Amino acid sequence: MFQSTKIALPSDDKRWKIVDATMRRHGYVPSSLIEALHSAQEAFGFLDETALRFVSASLHVPPSKVYGVATFYHFFTLKPPGKHTCVVCTGTACYIKGAPALLQALEKNLGIKQGETTADGEISILTARCLGSCGLAPAVVFDGQVAGKVEPAAMLERIQDVTGFREVDIVKPVTFG
Ligand code: FES
Repeated sequence: MFQSTKIALPSDDKRWKIVDATMRRHGYVPSSLIEALHSAQEAFGFLDETALRFVSASLHVPPSKVYGVATFYHFFTLKPPGKHTCVVCTGTACYIKGAPALLQALEKNLGIKQGETTADGEISILTARCLGSCGLAPAVVFDGQVAGKVEPAAMLERIQDVTGFREVDIVKPVTFG
């Protein structure tokens, strides 16, 4: 009988554990490919080569097939379109602790909606369902770095610092509550 070997997680980023748990729940069967890709996209906001290869190896599905499926369905995104990405976790813990306020602040200040990129290609707002850091809720991943207990004002400042945002003025963080 076919024995599946456990594939090492690509890094110690906790989000890989979430993707792995999804595949494990489905018994690492090749037919769970779409589920696995959804899980990876929800965790990271998009599917990069590392994610595609990890899913491919874990489910014993050839990379060509994984790429084929990931590029065929419009709901999968292979690359964050913006130069910088801000992924806001909208999982339950983060939602309760203020993710909607973070999203509203971003959308209002950058003038774009989640899933969109600013006109100058500078920054994309993405969402993920759970980043595996619920103790840090609300969590945001900015350019691959997880930040916890994020306040709207601090998040906007960080964006301004990193992007040197010019075209859209970040006037004032919105306050909630
Ligand atoms: S719900 Fe946001 S990290 Fe888990």
